[in-house]
Amino acid sequence: MTNRALRIGLVGYGFMGRAHSNAYKRVNDFFDLQYRPVLKAVCGRNRDNLEQFGAQWGYESIEADWTALVRRPDIDVIDIASPNHTHAEIASAAASAGKIVLCEKPLARDLTDAARMVEAVEYARVPNMVWYNYRRVPAVTLAKQLIDEGRLGRIFHYRTKFLQDWTMSRDLPQGGQALWRLDAEAAGSGVTGDLLAHCIDTAIWLNGPVHQVTATTETFIKERRHQKSGQVEPVRIDDASAFLARFDNGCLGTFEATRFARGHKALYTFEVNGESGSLAWDLHDLHRLQFFDHRDESKLRGWRSIHVTDGDHPYMSHWWVPGLQIGYEHTFIHQMADFLQSIASGTPITPSFRDALATEKVTSAVLKSARSGKWEVCN
Ligand SMILES: NC(=O)c1ccc[n+]([C@@H]2O[C@H](COP(=O)([O-])OP(=O)(O)OC[C@H]3O[C@@H](n4cnc5c(N)ncnc54)[C@H](O)[C@@H]3O)[C@@H](O)[C@H]2O)c1
Repeated sequence: MTNRALRIGLVGYGFMGRAHSNAYKRVNDFFDLQYRPVLKAVCGRNRDNLEQFGAQWGYESIEADWTALVRRPDIDVIDIASPNHTHAEIASAAASAGKIVLCEKPLARDLTDAARMVEAVEYARVPNMVWYNYRRVPAVTLAKQLIDEGRLGRIFHYRTKFLQDWTMSRDLPQGGQALWRLDAEAAGSGVTGDLLAHCIDTAIWLNGPVHQVTATTETFIKERRHQKSGQVEPVRIDDASAFLARFDNGCLGTFEATRFARGHKALYTFEVNGESGSLAWDLHDLHRLQFFDHRDESKLRGWRSIHVTDGDHPYMSHWWVPGLQIGYEHTFIHQMADFLQSIASGTPITPSFRDALATEKVTSAVLKSARSGKWEVCN
């Protein structure tokens, strides 16, 4: 198939800059698509790092100022893979310049900025997407199909957690390169916006809107040296966050995230319990979906562990032979394939900025509830 070029301008060359670049480079090798991403420019603040990243990943040029990138007529897509506090300004300027805007999660540092970003892309009528990539894990997409087919029946419980342990040392500073996640100025919040945002996006996608939450958060290490000032400063992000939720469909939810669960690096799990069945998924075993079907013959009833690697499983016909697994990086390739298909067909892609705003409303209500000690409505 001959492909039309879609010229990419990437902002940020860290963890996500690499994940997105990999997706741009591989997507047309595995999916037949009308569009082909062209790595036109990568943008950041340090020219030496940019030169090195650009050469390694095959970008045609570099930009040390995102405002210059957004002004370039040879760029179709601005892809924001920089820290949370940069999202709103870059996305709004990109939309005003008529660019397609892709943005990493969480959509913004706070709800006000997130709403501003939705307004900007909708006013400019530009295609937009947020990289909530876990939706494109084949086993998670299969979970969505099973729920939509009604196999779980009425859903009563949604239980999810995202556990890490990398910030437990009190010697870890806050702010600056790599540690911006500990600095409220850059991140907005701690695990609520960083980890729970993933759990919430998946939950809303699988189980519908969240109506109300009651939450508690904790900052275990109250002061850390700030990399910018060199001074010990109060820590204003949450190290741990837990909340109860009521979904519009009457389901109860429990959500937990922490960076203080010793021994856990990225334990993202969810379980859904319905009248006719249940399902469960675990990021550490991401190619498996656990499914219990109460309608099975009673003597054979039990949890099945579905190895989501067959040709009729979501996305898997594009990869290897049945039984062989794929991994984390493929979720970004799937999202890019879906995005390029949506551009070709003119249909909206999900999650859009507006979809991601629903998650921002929940994280905002979680933080509000943790302060007020009351149930808060997500609006
Ligand atoms: N979808 C996911 O699973 C996932 C995973 C990790 C991070 N994220 C999100 O991706 C974003 C980036 O996170 P990361 O882990 O890649 O961070 P990172 O620290 O690894 O990289 C951030 C990059 O942004 C650049 N940058 C910082 N300020 C900038 C500015 N003003 N202008 C231009 N570039 C700037 C840095 O130089 C660096 O290259 C965050 O919003 C984060 O929440 C999403």
